[in-house]
Amino acid sequence: MALQNINPSGTAAWQGLREHFSEMQYASMKEMFAAEKNRAEKFHIQWNDFLIDYSKNIINDKTIALLQGLAKEAGLKGAIESYFEGESINRTEGRAVLHTALRAPENASVKVEGVNVMPEIYSVKNKMKQFCEAIISGSKKGYTGKAFTDVVNIGIGGSDLGPAMVVESLKFYKNHLNVRFISNVDGDHVMESLKGLDPETTLFVIASKTFTTQETLTNAETARDWFLTTAKQEDVAKHFVAVSTNIQKVTQFGIDENNIFPMWDWVGGRFSLWSAVGLTIALAVGFDNFDGLLKGAHDMDEHFRTADFDKNIPVVLALLSIWYNNFFGAESEALIPYTQYLQKLAPYLQQGIMESNGKSVGRDGNPVNYQTGTIIWGEPGTNSQHAFFQLIHQGTKLIPTDFIGFIEPLYGNKDHHDKLMSNFFAQSEALLNGKTEAQVKAEFDKQGVTGEKADYLLPFKVFAGNKPTNTFLIKKLTPETLGSLVALYEHKIFVQGVIWNIFSYDQWGVELGKQLANSILDEINTGEIKQHDGSTTLLLKTFLGK
Ligand code: F6P
Repeated sequence: MALQNINPSGTAAWQGLREHFSEMQYASMKEMFAAEKNRAEKFHIQWNDFLIDYSKNIINDKTIALLQGLAKEAGLKGAIESYFEGESINRTEGRAVLHTALRAPENASVKVEGVNVMPEIYSVKNKMKQFCEAIISGSKKGYTGKAFTDVVNIGIGGSDLGPAMVVESLKFYKNHLNVRFISNVDGDHVMESLKGLDPETTLFVIASKTFTTQETLTNAETARDWFLTTAKQEDVAKHFVAVSTNIQKVTQFGIDENNIFPMWDWVGGRFSLWSAVGLTIALAVGFDNFDGLLKGAHDMDEHFRTADFDKNIPVVLALLSIWYNNFFGAESEALIPYTQYLQKLAPYLQQGIMESNGKSVGRDGNPVNYQTGTIIWGEPGTNSQHAFFQLIHQGTKLIPTDFIGFIEPLYGNKDHHDKLMSNFFAQSEALLNGKTEAQVKAEFDKQGVTGEKADYLLPFKVFAGNKPTNTFLIKKLTPETLGSLVALYEHKIFVQGVIWNIFSYDQWGVELGKQLANSILDEINTGEIKQHDGSTTLLLKTFLGK
């Protein structure tokens, strides 16, 4: 069944939210907290090792009821079933969207066009497991008989960001293998990344769903040339493996058919870390930890599929995001993890969120008449506090922010962790309460700041507060909790796409630049500049020294 086609702005709930917004746009969260003693009790979800507190939002019971009504009118319940059941919801590409099947248990049955895909998924998983164990244990060796020490993942977009983010996030669980990632077609990036590697002990994982991506193929060729400066052609089979749906192209490249880890067209690139694209993750942290990641994601899938909307974490977070995006006019959201390990989470989610929901045509083929796709950005706290938090606290823009923190640190350094977490709690409290004139004046009194100086400084020192935040307090960063966290955001993307009535799983918007780059490359190679706008012509002439 296709996703239903309904303009959200024409629903009764949307109309209700519009009217409700006029009551809420100046509502004070501080006052609501004072009036409702059970507010935090009411607006939080405790699930597994996660506490999701969304009470610091500009909402009341009516907001939640209207947002839930919007989800119902948009047919969310049925859409969730279509998603998990493998229906062809990626309609513009004629595909199912089944990254959830990759983390389902072996005895599940998930059908694509009538065929259960679970046996195939588990056959690839078993192949990955055996391969990882052989590389990690050193039983599988390089062309001179030495065990592998380094793994280089070559891929871009979903074939890079997911593995790179998870390897960084799970560094604590890493084994002895050194892992590097090459993505950009920038030759300096490749050369820097190959520096210091020993071809005898380096394994290359070429990850590309299509195996036609210019960046990845160019980097893979450069890596192979580098390898062949010391090794022979027949040694390539021992050092190069590929993850792809395009078996023909991989073998044409010269990679042994046994060294191919297949994936399927029903796995979107930006949701592919759970597939064989996760091979580099499994090599870095071992297959059991990779499996833990999948298990955590599956737990979140079950929660999303079965929990009532008012206790459903991805649904609640998606609806809150719509509330700010479509009614308050917020353009971006920040994501601030209070652990250095999650430093790549925001860049990873930028692809997930912005490639999925950066669409302006509705499922009916007409331009949408409302905002879609939030801009997502962020850096770990406390670094970000010393960089861009000023704008979140006192700037003119509304930036709903997710704070992600952990109760237990991984190395157990209590002094550091208590300092880190006190900042975590303080920031969302400061964003909620701000600082009033009376508080600033009391501070001035204490500091002995008086007279004209006090009058002058007063407005600059006041914080308006009332800035919305969600707080994720998670027990510990483990493969399982990371899996759940990533799956949570994946489902949030899905919910928003359903309600915005857009297709979240295609990415036609990245094609034009690729096409133009190919024709400009021909012009650069031949030196013959064709017809362009004046600006592009000037730039090309300067580049070519004409
Ligand atoms: O940038 C577009 C895109 O198609 C992404 O969606 C994808 O993750 C990336 O390119 C890489 O594609 P591939 O894995 O086919 O090389």
